[in-house]
Amino acid sequence: MSNESFEPLLIAFCCQYCSYSAADLAGSMRLQYPTNVRIVRTPCTGRLEVEFFMKAFEKGADGILVAGCLEGGCHFTEGNLLAKGRVGYTQKFLSECGLEAQRIRMINISAAQARPLVDHINDMLATLKSIGPSPLKRVNQPKNAEMNV
Ligand code: FES
Repeated sequence: MSNESFEPLLIAFCCQYCSYSAADLAGSMRLQYPTNVRIVRTPCTGRLEVEFFMKAFEKGADGILVAGCLEGGCHFTEGNLLAKGRVGYTQKFLSECGLEAQRIRMINISAAQARPLVDHINDMLATLKSIGPSPLKRVNQPKNAEMNV
């Protein structure tokens, strides 16, 4: 498949206190982002385990964006710091497997930062488009399979 026609699927795990609210605000502000991003609301990014990321890749994600509160602003004290470590671990794991570490990224934003969130989503999609489809998709995955992560 040429990267010209490739439309990556991006899963954005968004903390309900910050980035999920920023995504809501983006909607209210009529800021647009492509339809190939799926936003998954999480109580805190600290809830996310490495297994969740690998399951998302297996189920068809080409990339994962983890969006948590600003450092020092997590409502569960250090959930976003735990998530940062898990994202770093996953990047290292992907690299060691010969895959692109850029397939997963963590950002920290506040609920008021709708524009930066949209910019990060667009930047991540551009990165994924340039590196191509993820080889981690499970073979024989139904085309419109549910993303039950
Ligand atoms: Fe937002 Fe923890 S409450 S990252």
